[in-house]
Parts: sequence; C-alpha cells; structure tokens
Amino acid sequence: MSALSITPGKNNVGAYINNIDLKKLDQNQKKEIKDTLVSFGVVFIKKQNLDPASYQNFAKCIGQPVVYPRLRGLDKKFPFINVIERKPNDKNLSFGSSWLHQDTSYLASDRPRFTMLMGIEIPIGQGNTIFSSGFNAYEKLPSEIKNKIKNATGIFSSAGPIAVTRIEREKEMGIKSSDSMEAEHPIVKIVNGKKTLYVSPGHLMKIKNVDEKDSDYLKKYLIEHVNKQEFIFSYEWSKGDICLWDNLSILHMASEIKNCRRLMHRITIK
Ligand SMILES: [Fe+2]
Repeated sequence: MSALSITPGKNNVGAYINNIDLKKLDQNQKKEIKDTLVSFGVVFIKKQNLDPASYQNFAKCIGQPVVYPRLRGLDKKFPFINVIERKPNDKNLSFGSSWLHQDTSYLASDRPRFTMLMGIEIPIGQGNTIFSSGFNAYEKLPSEIKNKIKNATGIFSSAGPIAVTRIEREKEMGIKSSDSMEAEHPIVKIVNGKKTLYVSPGHLMKIKNVDEKDSDYLKKYLIEHVNKQEFIFSYEWSKGDICLWDNLSILHMASEIKNCRRLMHRITIK
C-alpha cells in the first residue's frame, strides 16, 4: 500500500500525487511515485517549479532520460530537457495537437516509454493537455471487439495524420525533416497486469492480423472510442505543474492556444 497521498483524475484518468516536494524524495517515495505512474498511467504533481538540475534528477528516479530524436535540448548542461514553446503569433495548431497519440509509437524497438512535462509559462484558461486512458478505453470495449483485436497489430508511422504539425515545427526550428519511420506493435498491451489500448491515432496507419474486411472498420472504431469524453481528462495547467505519463497506457494531445505564449520543459524517459 502506497504511503503517498493520491487523488484520482477526472473520469478516473491518472492520479494526482499530493503534498510532495520532488526535490526531497527518499528511496521509498521514488519507488512509490514510479509504481503509481505505472498503475495509473499518468500522474499530476502540482506546483513543483523545479530548476533544470532538479528536474533532470527527478527524471532519473523514473528511468533513463533520453535525447529526443526530433528536438533540441535546453542547453549543453541539460541535454534531456526539450523546450516546447508556443508563440503568440504561431498560426498552426500547437505541437502534437488535434490527434491523440502515444509518443514515438513509430519506433520499432528501444522506444522511450515515459514523457514528462513541466509548465514554465502558462496562459490562463487555455493550452490544456488532453489525456485519454487506454486502460479505461479497453475495459469498456464490447467483448465482440475485444475478441476481434486479441492478436491485432497496428502499423504506426511518423508520417501519420499528426505529422503536419511536426513538420511545421521542425521547419520553424531549422531542423531538416528526416525520412519517416514506421513500426508495428500489438494494439492490446498488458501493463501492470491490466490490458490497455495502444492505438496512437496520430500515427496509426493500418490494423493488421484481423479479418481483412474488418481492418478499416476497426481502425475507425478504435480511434472514435479512445476519443470518447468518458475516457478523457483535459488537464488545466498551472505554472510549475508536472504531468508524467506512460505512453503504453495513456494517449495525449495538446489543445489549441491562441494569441498567447506557452513554455513547457519536456523530458522523455526510457
Ligand atoms: Fe506527444
């Protein structure tokens, strides 16, 4: 039994971890935070305002931080911290928006599992991050669909529907877009003994290992299913908040930001 103070998120998506200072964790607390993350899929930790060194140190309690393949680091001292900036005059939708997805589902092996964001500069009333629980979505599937997707795999591509925003982002940062990457993964995963849906709509191209006639239908069905309001928690940020999620069990997307600046620090963790 965890000694942490925990409150479930809206629609039972993830959990808030209350009354904790991430700069002063003992070994037990580090383990309990990781256990909570894996069993709930996403944790929300309010108002931490960590400096870059403490932020990177906390990431190392969860796993091995990785240099994200497509974005630059904060600076040489903090190569694992990506700056995600939204400028007031940006015209395209914000980074990663409009499609729920699971980060780097287009990598075949050795892909990072966890993503963490900290709010540095937060506009009031907009720029929520939207989470959908793959655990809850799987549980509520009709048994007929569960049966059909038992052995299904998805083909995921970095050139999937979400790629439009990424390619614009890379252009802005002067990074040359690399060739697209593609990978295949089972779409039903077991995390912490519980089944969860891994369908990353922003990257999903095709569903395989199902009846050929069902493939397009299932793809559309599952994308609509994970987008249902009953599985969604739209998280409203305050400055200094941390959201940390497991990409195996949680889908996410950004929401639109208009005429405002927003700054986040992201760390990706294996
Ligand atoms: Fe993302």
